[in-house]
Amino acid sequence: MSSKQSSATPHTEDRKKVTVNLVQEMKRRGEPISMLTAYDYPTALIMDQAGLNIILVGDSLGMVVLGYENTLPVSMDEMIHHCKAVARGAKYALLVGDMPFMSYQADAADAVRNAGRFLQTGGMNAIKLEGGRERAETIRAIVNAGIPVMGHLGLTPQSVHKLGGYRPQGRDAEAALRLVEDAQILQEAGCFSLVLESIPGKLAKLVSGRLDIPTLGIGAGAGCDGQVLVTHDLLGIFERFTPRFVKRYAHLAEEMRRAFNEFNDEVKTHAFPGAEHTVEMSDDEWQCLEERLSQEGSLFMLRDRAVR
Ligand code: KIV
Repeated sequence: MSSKQSSATPHTEDRKKVTVNLVQEMKRRGEPISMLTAYDYPTALIMDQAGLNIILVGDSLGMVVLGYENTLPVSMDEMIHHCKAVARGAKYALLVGDMPFMSYQADAADAVRNAGRFLQTGGMNAIKLEGGRERAETIRAIVNAGIPVMGHLGLTPQSVHKLGGYRPQGRDAEAALRLVEDAQILQEAGCFSLVLESIPGKLAKLVSGRLDIPTLGIGAGAGCDGQVLVTHDLLGIFERFTPRFVKRYAHLAEEMRRAFNEFNDEVKTHAFPGAEHTVEMSDDEWQCLEERLSQEGSLFMLRDRAVR
């Protein structure tokens, strides 16, 4: 592997690590915030080179990497394993670890301990959790432990069964009002930022305008302070379904299929490996080996007989 740095690396020498204060400052300056999900070392490394502001190790891991039906089976150990890989790859982006289902819902003390693992063992800088006013006490406890918290409102995938599916949220006045209140409560509880998922664009813009903390929209229109997508959707790797709000920036599944097919064919037809992929010995060394083998031939035959 080449040790040269990619030319895509933006201004490495004057780059600063992104902090929660910096993303809040970006909102004040009206500078859009970029966030993507990552679950492994090479992706995190490339994202950091591309200059992403925030990398989220989302529990979408469960669906797009681990092949679960939804995010509910994802465990703390699985999250921490992938957080560690991402932390080894990204040095500049703010790293946010997503708390999995039942790691924070039952008990605030448990939530603080689990949130702590993301920073202490996983190498993350902050955590994210889903839910509104019902999470305020837990958020306060985690923030009081010195751990920055990103909230998540609207379509909260860990509540998929309660919501009756992956449907847009906040579409009637009653639900929209509740979401506006929840956003205010999460800010007061100490969240440093907020994901708004699959809600009307007008509502997301209203919430973003009322809050001091930055909002990161996914399926929430252009009125948020930043945008987030699930990387496997953006790259076209996850093909089971694609939400309407996803923009595909690449079609990597097609490219991967093409490459795997080609490798398979070339192995079967002996087209790979070619001479250029093979290490050779000098003729002198080869001749020497042949001589040694012919001298030691009788010894090998004796050993062979003994084994049989
Ligand atoms: O798990 C995840 O990837 C997320 C994003 C969709 C925000 O929560």
